[in-house]
Amino acid sequence: MENNNESKKVIFSGIQPSGNPTIGNYLGALRNWVKLQDEFDCYFCIVDLHAITVKQVPKELREKTLEMLAIYLAAGIDPEKNTIFIQSHVPAHSEAAWLLTCNSYMGELSRMTQYKDKSKKYGDNDSIGAGLFVYPVLMAADILLYNTDLVPVGQDQKQHLELARDLANRFNNAYSPTFKVPEPYIQKAGAKIMSLQDPTKKMSKSDENANAYILIMDPPEVIRKKVSRAVTDSLGVVNYSDEQPGVKNLLNILIAIKGSTPEELVEYYKGKGYAELKKDVADSIIGELEPIQTKVKELLKDKAYLESIYKKGAEKAHYISMKTLRKMQKKIGFIPR
Ligand code: TYM
Repeated sequence: MENNNESKKVIFSGIQPSGNPTIGNYLGALRNWVKLQDEFDCYFCIVDLHAITVKQVPKELREKTLEMLAIYLAAGIDPEKNTIFIQSHVPAHSEAAWLLTCNSYMGELSRMTQYKDKSKKYGDNDSIGAGLFVYPVLMAADILLYNTDLVPVGQDQKQHLELARDLANRFNNAYSPTFKVPEPYIQKAGAKIMSLQDPTKKMSKSDENANAYILIMDPPEVIRKKVSRAVTDSLGVVNYSDEQPGVKNLLNILIAIKGSTPEELVEYYKGKGYAELKKDVADSIIGELEPIQTKVKELLKDKAYLESIYKKGAEKAHYISMKTLRKMQKKIGFIPR
């Protein structure tokens, strides 16, 4: 298969189609991907194998997977320039994950903060899925299969990226150079959007309180309501400071969307109150999301088009990933068939 992107550096990233994506996913990941697609050879995956680490309703998983594909496209990811695919369509991911699992340690996996947080939420060891525990190894497999140079993600994925680097180095040392060791690519603006209800916590689609997050598909009036209810403080002065995490988070949203600097915004809001700041934040989110929402709805009406994209993506991803998987198998000592 031709590959006219050979001289470009490779990017890999993905979003889980579990629940509904938030502006955290958008500002921390998706929006940055759009800016990278000309310069890099990009693989953008909808990571459904990751989504099943917690229980999913099959019908909803199917719907969310297609919706996520529509969101990628509507946000501006060009299917002609990038490889867009669904993780479960490319079996090398599961298989490489197993090979890497056998080169991973219980200790390093149990130190993953996301695992610790999630397992706290799901209770004792008899109700925490083993998939949640080995999930970062699957993520490493995703990345390493494509000889990825850079992984654009939000701050919360940094530790998983470090594990992917460790696993790559370990495999390279145990056998012989096989994997490129990937670098995280974390943009400062939008890297960690916080909960609107508790700005010391990351904004997450799995939060029980719907006021804590803004969904990519939230209608304008819902966005206004959620932003107006965002927790701030009683100081009444717009500063970009850790002492005012709620206000800082609202400013960070503006910074990520508008590209302004914290200093410019603090200067602009001198003598103005939180109501004005919140109105501007809501306006800018709506301005950014409305065209995407319209496109998503249109795209979801054309299932044949969506199918043509994920099929083409899977073909290319399969071809590239199998090359790496075969190398891994051979080095481990499996007999080629
Ligand atoms: P996921 O689905 O939880 O999130 C997708 C992307 O969104 C970013 N993100 C945020 N960024 C800023 N502020 C937030 N509040 C926020 N919440 C989420 C995440 O950092 C991520 O970039 N394991 C990954 C998916 C994955 C992946 C991969 C990523 C699987 N394989 C390979 C990169 C490369 C995850 O669960 O992301």
